[in-house]
Amino acid sequence: MAAGLFRAEMSMLSSTLARSFSIPFRKTLSSFDSRIATQRNSLPRTRHSRVASLSSSSPSHPRNFPLPGIEDVFVGYLFGRKKATEVAHVVWEQVIQKGDMVIDATCGNGNDTLAMLKMVTDDSDGCGGCVYAMDIQKDAIESTSCLLDQTLGSEEKERVKLFNMCHSKMEEIVPENSSVRMVAFNLGYLPGGNKSIITASNTTVLALKAAESVLMPGGLISLVVYIGHPGGREELEVVEAFGSSLPVSDWVCCKLQMLNRPLAPVLVFMFKREK
Ligand SMILES: C[S@@+](CC[C@H](N)C(=O)[O-])C[C@H]1O[C@@H](n2cnc3c(N)ncnc32)[C@H](O)[C@@H]1O
Repeated sequence: MAAGLFRAEMSMLSSTLARSFSIPFRKTLSSFDSRIATQRNSLPRTRHSRVASLSSSSPSHPRNFPLPGIEDVFVGYLFGRKKATEVAHVVWEQVIQKGDMVIDATCGNGNDTLAMLKMVTDDSDGCGGCVYAMDIQKDAIESTSCLLDQTLGSEEKERVKLFNMCHSKMEEIVPENSSVRMVAFNLGYLPGGNKSIITASNTTVLALKAAESVLMPGGLISLVVYIGHPGGREELEVVEAFGSSLPVSDWVCCKLQMLNRPLAPVLVFMFKREK
């Protein structure tokens, strides 16, 4: 059957997104704009002074709602026409605001880094946040740098800081008293690179703990977990155990998984509720 059957946490995800904005998901997309703008303008941004200091202007720019493509992507995913990474990107768009600081914990070839940068910057007035992108492989850092050089002007590229390091140490590079809107992981090995260098359960769980500690309320830990390689399933179990352990009063955690494609990547989202 062409349509991938998947463990149906779609309604869970919809309600996660809806709850994050305190509104019903589907029918209110068209009224998102004004409500989100109001909610976001009332956020206690001063608690996150570093984010403000990184921005050249207010991060609360109204979005172009209804979000172009969000339903297409979700429905496309249901019917096997859209990839897990595309779903991850539309979920990120729900959470990330212009001017935010976000972390790409596994930058690899830089595709996710680039997508995040577009979400934190605003073409219209140059307002921008920043992306801290890290990878344990020097080759990956070079690959990401190369993609950014090809795609961005020098000013935009300055908004990305690249770190050749293990993501378990991400707290060391996040400035004190700062908050991070999103930490994204795309686990596994570098496409086109050395397949023996893969993310590992022990460092992934340390990185998740670090992500939990730097994440601001209203932030997201996003994971795309590949399970086709040795150790991939164990890593998924570690991720699931971590998400399951987070208190429901503060976190909404869910996953999307194909049932009849056992090697398909699994999406996991851990949303830290607004206080
Ligand atoms: C699936 S790839 C990421 C793809 C990337 N997000 C992109 O858009 O191209 C996974 C990456 O995780 C990196 N990695 C593995 N272990 C890591 C660790 N402990 N800390 C940081 N990165 C790690 C690998 O080197 C690899 O580049």
